[in-house]
Amino acid sequence: EVPAQFQKDLLNWYHKNARVLPWRSQPSPYRVWISEMMLQQTRVDTVIPYFQRFMEALPDIPALAEVTEDKLLKLWQGLGYYNRALNLKKTAQVLMSQYGGQLPPDREALLALPGIGPYSAGAISSIAFGRAVPAVDGNVLRIMARLLASYEDINQGAHKKKMQAFMEKLVSPEEPGNFNQGLMDLGAGICLPNGQPKCPDCPVQAHCKAYRQELTALIPVKIPK
Ligand code: ADE
Repeated sequence: EVPAQFQKDLLNWYHKNARVLPWRSQPSPYRVWISEMMLQQTRVDTVIPYFQRFMEALPDIPALAEVTEDKLLKLWQGLGYYNRALNLKKTAQVLMSQYGGQLPPDREALLALPGIGPYSAGAISSIAFGRAVPAVDGNVLRIMARLLASYEDINQGAHKKKMQAFMEKLVSPEEPGNFNQGLMDLGAGICLPNGQPKCPDCPVQAHCKAYRQELTALIPVKIPK
């Protein structure tokens, strides 16, 4: 019942305030996959023009599976972490030979593909396929630490595991992709790090224990790795 209200408040806000992003307008599995790989280590504003160029040059999985390394690296030039680009081509080839040229909807199957980690697998499975799985990254860990007023070190493996399990239950079964992207937008625009959260604008303020206890400047606790 508390999670249901939290889901509703987050989703209502997302429906009105979602950032307009090119991979959100036509969320085909291919577009969602490419966007998530680009967004792993690169900011949204930087990714947008790269994403547009990439989609024009390589509009689908067969095109990506056949691209020359030279052309691929040129499309990626400036994004850094070039292994991401090489993994994209590798994965496209695996999809062509083993998956009938399609991305698999299951989180576990996605996780087995080159370059796709737990966060990306959750993001793709939920956004592109509507599976009720979370996508837990640093933003989600910060948001949840504040909601729960938790003093646990969010960099700790044990804490991350606990939060992963918590989010498995909190994710909206009706709109998992919008729920996860709502958390992304909340983390990017409202529940900001370093004592800068915009709590007066927060759609889930009523659920936030750190806000109630005036602890948002102290939480999350993050001990450098
Ligand atoms: N960061 C990672 N995935 C994202 C998405 N789908 N939308 C906005 N920011 C993101």
